[in-house]
Amino acid sequence: MNQTDGKRLAAEAALKYVEEDTIIGVGTGSTVDKFIDALAEMRMKLRGAVSSSEASTQRLRKHGIDVVDLNSAGRLDLYVDGADESNRFLQLIKGGGGALTREKIVASASERFICIADESKLVDVLGEFPLPIEVIPMARSTVARELVRIGGRPELRQNFTTDNGNIILDVHGLSITEPLKLEQEINNIPGVVTNGIFALRPADLLLLGSSSGVRKVE
Ligand code: 5RP
Repeated sequence: MNQTDGKRLAAEAALKYVEEDTIIGVGTGSTVDKFIDALAEMRMKLRGAVSSSEASTQRLRKHGIDVVDLNSAGRLDLYVDGADESNRFLQLIKGGGGALTREKIVASASERFICIADESKLVDVLGEFPLPIEVIPMARSTVARELVRIGGRPELRQNFTTDNGNIILDVHGLSITEPLKLEQEINNIPGVVTNGIFALRPADLLLLGSSSGVRKVE
C-alpha cells in the first residue's frame, strides 16, 4: 500500500467520530483534503466547519460546507487534522503545509483532536522532519540565530508566505527528546508566532492508515 492509500484510509476512519448538527474543526494538508472530500460524499448534515487555512476553506466551500468563524463557533467538540510526525505519546510535528498557527489555535479550542496520517508518520523521536516555525518577517535573522544556538539549522522556506502574512523557518537537525520543553522554549523567542511542535496540546487519538487497516493509537 502506498502513502496516499494510507492517508485515505485514515481520513475515512475519522468520519465515524463526526456527529450530525455540530461544528467541527478542520485542519490542513493532503490527508485532510481526503477527509473533507469523504465528509462531503457522506452528505452528513453539519452546522459548519472552522477551518485552519485558506486552502481548506476553499475546499470546504467547494463542497457546500459552511465555514464558520472561530469567534462565533465557541468551543468545538472535535478537530481533525494531519501531521508530519507523531511519537507514541501523540506529540506531533505539524506545519509542513505552513498552516501551523491556525491549526494550533483550532486544536486548542477543541475538546478532542483526532490526528489522521499514514503509518510512515509514526516515529520514535520527533525531529527528522524539519520543524516549521512561523516568524514575523522582521525577526527572521534574530530568530534564526537563536535556533542555531539551540542546535538547529534553520532554512527559510522559499517563495512562501503564511495565511497570516509571515515567513516559515524550517529547522533541520533537531532531535526532539523533550517536546514540551522545546515547544515552550521556541515560543519564548521574540518574533516567533508559533512553532510546529504540538506537545502542550497533543492529539487525543491517532488514526494510522496502513496495509493492514487502520491502527488506533491513544
Ligand atoms: C499543515 C500540516 C499538515 O497536517 C501536515 O503537513 C501533514 O500534511 P499531509 O496530510 O499532506 O501529509 O500540518 O500545516
